Amino acid sequence: MLMLMTSPHILNDGNASPAVLTVIAGDGIGPEIMKPTLELMQAAGASLAIEYAEAGTASFEAGVTSGVPEETIESVARTGLVLKGPLMTPIGSGGKSANVTLRKLFETFANIRPVREMPGVPTPFAGRGIDLVIVRENVEDLYAGIEHMQTPDVAQCLKLISRLGSQRVVRTAFELARAEGRKDVAVATKANIMKMTEGMLQREFEAAAKDYPDINARHVLVDNCAHLLVRYPESFDVIVTSNMNGDILSDLTSGLVGGLGFAPSANLGNRVAIFEAVHGSAPDIAGRDIANPTALMMSAIMLLRHVGQFGSAETLEQALLCTLSDGVHTGDVPGESPVSTSAFAAAVGDRIGRRSAVASREHQPIVLPQISRPDARREPGSRVKKGVDVFVETTQEVDQLGAGLEQIATVTPYRLSMISNRGTVVWPNTGGMTECVDHFRCRFVIDDASTWTEESIYGLLKAIGAQHRWMHVEKLEEVDGVASYSRAQGER
Ligand code: NAI
Repeated sequence: MLMLMTSPHILNDGNASPAVLTVIAGDGIGPEIMKPTLELMQAAGASLAIEYAEAGTASFEAGVTSGVPEETIESVARTGLVLKGPLMTPIGSGGKSANVTLRKLFETFANIRPVREMPGVPTPFAGRGIDLVIVRENVEDLYAGIEHMQTPDVAQCLKLISRLGSQRVVRTAFELARAEGRKDVAVATKANIMKMTEGMLQREFEAAAKDYPDINARHVLVDNCAHLLVRYPESFDVIVTSNMNGDILSDLTSGLVGGLGFAPSANLGNRVAIFEAVHGSAPDIAGRDIANPTALMMSAIMLLRHVGQFGSAETLEQALLCTLSDGVHTGDVPGESPVSTSAFAAAVGDRIGRRSAVASREHQPIVLPQISRPDARREPGSRVKKGVDVFVETTQEVDQLGAGLEQIATVTPYRLSMISNRGTVVWPNTGGMTECVDHFRCRFVIDDASTWTEESIYGLLKAIGAQHRWMHVEKLEEVDGVASYSRAQGER
């Protein structure tokens, strides 16, 4: 079932040494858009040595639970360069997304999504000159997929943001700006609410900005960013953001320029780069020769630039721009007389060597930040123990819970300081109207830091556990004089 060509198939020698890449045609419309894309890369003079590999539906059906067979993983590890069609995610079988597997397995930490107004594509924003890039953190945040049912009625998803992940993605955004001659980089966060997670991204951005004095660096709250993107999309140049924010913002921005058919992307890591259209396998139109291949072609153009084949990248880009300028388009684009995928590709092929009225941007190779874990690690000067938060499941009234836990604490060095429910203080009573669910954060503080020991925490948990089910514990510390935990809404 697996179709892997281990001996590379040389497309076109050109003048450059061939870039060795893994091609995964993908599911649904994947093969229909991949074939003409590869042919056009060749026609544009790209020099490529291809290993064909498989992932997605056929692999799931063959019993590969990750959707990515061992041979494909070996090919990607060997070539470090992938052009990928869309991969279907199985529904209901519990199978993970093969796309996410590939991104995470190869630590492609930055997802680059350029958004540019295309000629001949009518949108409400046509003529505004939209030309921006979203740089989305690609492996962390809520998409780490660490979820637990805390109680039968309360679900939790961990939002993990690391200093390493933040430094890598913000520096990639600055480097990309330099490589493309862009002058403005905005970091979009929700740091006003999530001061530690989203705040870390903002702080690392502001620290990195000092090394890029030639670029205007600014912070924008992500909700306002969404608003500004719709009102003044032309005012943005590069936007760097966390994984989930980037997922949403980049779909919004692709909508501004004509939709998924025009949204390419690159997943960049230090050792592997994966280029793919943002859209999925479009099962509703698969096999009908009507899909828009532009997004995959634009992804291929990004790939060519990534490997330094700037000439063939520009040749293909200009042919594509000419085709769209001439009004040739597939059925997803509003307008008369849509053409098939193959006719569109043939039209691009006919225009190889022509230049459109829309210029290609100047591109230099992106210098990816080579930051490793020890580089990003910050050794704290002081860590002062302050207490523990114990998360408890109960249907007790909060006054009864508070009185009970206060009593329990009397046989430990800890003192109950507050209880919150979904982040709002409910004990001591604040007069608020919180409708409590069965998931309470119970904050126990310590007055003498020397009595904060592993044993004293076990003792506290044992005493709580005798009366309530507890789900997890967080240790509370002050690091370099700053609390490493958030205060509850209404906590004094
Ligand atoms: P989708 O992007 O495949 O389709 C959404 C809509 O856009 C459909 O109406 C489709 O016909 C249309 N569309 C998408 N690409 C098009 C193109 N190139 N030309 C013309 N029309 C196009 O999203 P959907 O339906 O949610 O997902 C289908 C499958 O693809 C799922 O299994 C999903 O998990 C997978 N997927 C894979 C991605 C990847 O490989 N990176 C990304 C997104 C979804």
